[in-house]
Amino acid sequence: MATATFPSPTTPLQTEDQKSYAAHVNPVWVRLLDTLGMNLKYTHCQGTELYTRDGRTILDCLSGYCVHNVGHNHPHVVAELVAELQRQSPAMLQSNVVEEAGALARVLCAHAGGRVEKVFFCSSGSEGVETVIKYARAHTKRSGLVYAAGAFHGLTCGALSLMGSDFWRESFGPMLADTHEVPFGDLPKLERILAKRKTAAVILEPIQAEAGIVLPPENYLAEVQRLCRQYGTLFVLDEVQTGMGRTGTFLAGQRYGVEPDMIVMAKALSGGLVPCAAVLMTDEIYRSVFHSLKRAFIHTSTFSENSLAMRAGLATIEVLDSEDLTARGERLGNRLRDRLRSALAGYEMVKEVRGAGMLTGIEFQPPRSLAMRLSYEAFKAIHPGLFGQILVMRLFNDKNILTQICGNNFTVLKVAPPLTVSEAHLDQIAESIRSVVDTIHHSTAFWSDALALGRRAMSSR
Ligand SMILES: Cc1ncc(COP(=O)(O)O)c(C=O)c1O
Repeated sequence: MATATFPSPTTPLQTEDQKSYAAHVNPVWVRLLDTLGMNLKYTHCQGTELYTRDGRTILDCLSGYCVHNVGHNHPHVVAELVAELQRQSPAMLQSNVVEEAGALARVLCAHAGGRVEKVFFCSSGSEGVETVIKYARAHTKRSGLVYAAGAFHGLTCGALSLMGSDFWRESFGPMLADTHEVPFGDLPKLERILAKRKTAAVILEPIQAEAGIVLPPENYLAEVQRLCRQYGTLFVLDEVQTGMGRTGTFLAGQRYGVEPDMIVMAKALSGGLVPCAAVLMTDEIYRSVFHSLKRAFIHTSTFSENSLAMRAGLATIEVLDSEDLTARGERLGNRLRDRLRSALAGYEMVKEVRGAGMLTGIEFQPPRSLAMRLSYEAFKAIHPGLFGQILVMRLFNDKNILTQICGNNFTVLKVAPPLTVSEAHLDQIAESIRSVVDTIHHSTAFWSDALALGRRAMSSR
């Protein structure tokens, strides 16, 4: 039977700069990492692997929340960025036509297909969502915005107004007015709101990531699109986590045969190296915002079309295409889910393994057997996310696997390695998760040690 290896809650800070981070950036984050034993010094990262100063090799199954689709520091993306720097290009003149932006917009629209033919570039997913809010209101001359329960759209005030979670919103209000939440998958409730003809846009993740890797019910997205068209509302997909090949198609919306009016992309578009985000939209929406010379820069952002970001985007899509990574992610993602399903069959706390492409969620449920149930309830009383966090910590410390629980659903473990992950790594991932789940089901020490750790952590708040 495996024994638990839990870190000391007071691992000392390792370097001078880590101490400065704790002093000047975010000491609470340092404390959390220390508590979980996850405060390592990384020397370099390549592909799916992260190398630490103390000689460990960690297998990345988080991909920076779906940033590293082409793997860490892909040589082609790195080479393109180095070449761009060496070229001494007019990087941020803000007074020229940025050719790289033209090239990236052309490639993005071609890959997206459907109705989109214009692109606004920015630097983060949240900034993309802010853009959607402004453009949707300008185009429809309506103010209403509809979002789904469990959604994660970013932490700027507009994006946060499209997320119902009290946790993310607390103390930051008031939020934007006229935003409305509907359950993901509930068409009648959505139609009741849209029928009032006051809604500018419905904004959805095609597959909800932070809500727990929630796939849309059959035909749901197509029906949302139909209702939006019927009532004069824009249909917007947030593909920040699901895009760039992550879910088996270039965009997850393509999997479901829909053609949104606007699409937000970010994260993996950067190649994991330079912030890069994009909002793809129809020409009509673009013209509602930029309809005269005096509005030529009515919505812009200093770093939006910087040539490094544009190069990173172009190079990343070149890698996706030349290495056929989207299809590979779909093929290997299905294989990973098959392996996980057979490895985890019979463990009472495992409810479901689900996902699409290389985005997988493992949902856990409360145990039925009395001994585990008492410990599980004690975990929950300390913090609702404690069970998942201990799972993450065990995978990291005992198995060298980096993953996380979903931000809006603590019962789901996210498994999202780069699309370049090898078959051997898939076996390692499935076996490591099985082994930790087995420990949870058979080791009383797991529960008692973890409870002690949880109590220590919470009492040091
Ligand atoms: C689906 C989705 N939309 C938007 C965002 C916000 O992106 P960013 O953190 O780049 O602002 C995120 C971030 O995790 C996300 O997962």
